[in-house]
Amino acid sequence: MFKKKALIPVLIGLALVAAGCGQKPAAEPANANQPAAAQTAKLDQIKKAGKIVVGTSADYPPYEFHKEVDKKDEIVGFDIEIAKAIAKDLGVNLEVKDMKFDGLLPALEAGNVDFIISGMTPTPERKQSVDFTEIYYTAVQKVVVRAEDKDKYKAVEDLAGKRVGAQKGATQEQIVRKQMPNSEMKALGKISDLMLDLKNKKTEALVVEQPVAEAYLSKNPDLVLSDVKLSSEDSGSAIAVKKGSADLVDAMNKTLDKLIQDKSVDKFVTEANESVE
Ligand code: ARG
Repeated sequence: MFKKKALIPVLIGLALVAAGCGQKPAAEPANANQPAAAQTAKLDQIKKAGKIVVGTSADYPPYEFHKEVDKKDEIVGFDIEIAKAIAKDLGVNLEVKDMKFDGLLPALEAGNVDFIISGMTPTPERKQSVDFTEIYYTAVQKVVVRAEDKDKYKAVEDLAGKRVGAQKGATQEQIVRKQMPNSEMKALGKISDLMLDLKNKKTEALVVEQPVAEAYLSKNPDLVLSDVKLSSEDSGSAIAVKKGSADLVDAMNKTLDKLIQDKSVDKFVTEANESVE
């Protein structure tokens, strides 16, 4: 009995080491034994290519969303403005790739994008596989319900046994799981589909960050912010890059510092909110 128990942590340790060994060479073949080279290779590579590719999930107004500009579909939002400023400071062009939120981290690790800007929260779990810049914006979590149900759903308990929506792969999935354990979660890839489900009574509520909730509500008078309170409500956004690109993180933090200090981020947020409607 005693022996068996003592073995478990050892086995877990071995499994972690094995997993780590299996992953590293696949992710960074050239730099596996040269951490110093790995730290600078990425920035050089981007500058040589003359472009940087950003991955985003453009279902998240005012952070990133689709908008018709001069009869052409474009991805806009305050995250995109920040990404443009970063590309400009690096002296390269910006290419934007739109995908589902839960496809972003795999795309970064596969090298299909150079960085992610998507209202992404630097959680401890994510920090194990990617690196983050500093936080450039912070929002709180809200629960959206149909206007007619505002008095019915006022607390987490009121949603016991009910279906609650959350974006697949997003922190909101964890929030529903942990803070609304008696509700049934419905996770979907795109926020727009989650809003539709709520409107069509396929779910009773939806957990989403406040600015995003408000952007959708401005166009959907049948939906409202509920009084349901969630704990540890903060959700900061940071940029993610592949592990081992310290030079890229430093360069991005410089741009972010500047944009935060001279209030450009605030301006981008205001402008993005205005362009939602
Ligand atoms: N902040 C949350 C997270 O990091 C949600 C972000 C969702 N972003 C998006 N563009 N849909 O998981």
